Amino acid sequence: MSDFVSSFWSHYVSAITIISILACFLLAWVTSRAKVPPAVDGVVESTGHVWDENLRELNNPLPRWWLYLFYITCVFGVGYLILYPGLGTFKGTLNWTQNGQYDDEVAKMDEVTAPLFAGYMAQDIAEVAKDPEAQAMGERLFLTYCSQCHGSDARGSRSFPNLSDNDWLGAGDPEYIKHTVLNGRNAVMPAMAAAIGNTPADVEAMANYVLSLSDSRHDAILAAKAKPKFAVCAACHGADGKGVAAVGAPNLTDDTWLYGGSRKSIEDAISNGFNNRMPSFGNLLDEGKAHVLAAYIWSLSNSDESTTQTN
Ligand code: HEC
Ligand code: HEC
Repeated sequence: MSDFVSSFWSHYVSAITIISILACFLLAWVTSRAKVPPAVDGVVESTGHVWDENLRELNNPLPRWWLYLFYITCVFGVGYLILYPGLGTFKGTLNWTQNGQYDDEVAKMDEVTAPLFAGYMAQDIAEVAKDPEAQAMGERLFLTYCSQCHGSDARGSRSFPNLSDNDWLGAGDPEYIKHTVLNGRNAVMPAMAAAIGNTPADVEAMANYVLSLSDSRHDAILAAKAKPKFAVCAACHGADGKGVAAVGAPNLTDDTWLYGGSRKSIEDAISNGFNNRMPSFGNLLDEGKAHVLAAYIWSLSNSDESTTQTN
């Protein structure tokens, strides 16, 4: 209704609704008052309608219970339209709204869970990770908010990092995980082809050097040729290629790849760079929930049972 500038349609729809209810009421009333001829010798007058050769429609009065139910329905309809929104733009005397009800329910739920989260907030994230109830909550939060991108098993996929393998783009400690949830992250690597010579051969040589860092299959001659040029990469990935967590530049020596470790994908990385973004969840999750969620994520690769995976 709020889509319309004038109030014409609101009045129009309201009028049709009210007239319909009155018409129903009148119909029931008029029909119930119509005189029905009494039965003669137990035979009720027929309306003259006959189906299937001998099925006749009789002219019986409406049953009382049915009639009263019909009146009650009309009264209920009117009462409902007075209390709740239903007549055009009229808001109803209870001022009820769907959003209002939702907000009330959320507020009630928060009241119940606030002490629970306050309790967890008072503990270290590593401590929270030992609480089975917190873990169950963390898993539910993960499946609701994170699994679309990181996968329901948290193992990620191309460009969405694996969160279960204790291999991190950033610091990887519990506070880092919580900070990432609340603030998101944006990893930027500029296109680097121009900085290393700009020909496809230069890019191919550098990709071979990157592969050599993790002892993956590579052409040693090409790798040696590119090695001195790695200085321009070192600013972010470190001179030894082991990555700099503060920049979010990953370790290139561990054979764990966010974008796949083929020579082709590494050449793409060098030629095109990245602008990879994780949205921030600060407006959807309060700090308590982020705390519990971080404990869950951290525990995936740091609990006693979890085995450290390398890819
Ligand atoms: C819309 C997709 C998307 C959603 C939803 C999402 N993430 Fe991410 N997340 C990413 C991307 C992309 C990155 C990698 C950013 C980068 O390259 O720095 C990332 C990175 C991370 C990292 C850092 C990983 C590392 O190796 O340092 C953590 C921790 C993380 N996400 C946790 C979460 C949690 C917890 C949730 C749920 C609240 C979540 N993410 C929801 C896309 C998403
Ligand atoms: C300005 C900083 C910066 C520079 C300079 C830089 N990188 Fe990166 N690089 C990054 C960041 C940040 C990422 C992570 C992108 C992401 O998380 O999505 C990355 C990712 C990569 C990846 C993908 C790793 C994977 O796990 O799939 C490769 C390969 C790579 N860089 C190679 C290089 C090479 C080779 C150079 C030099 C020619 C270079 N980078 C220069 C910041 C940089």
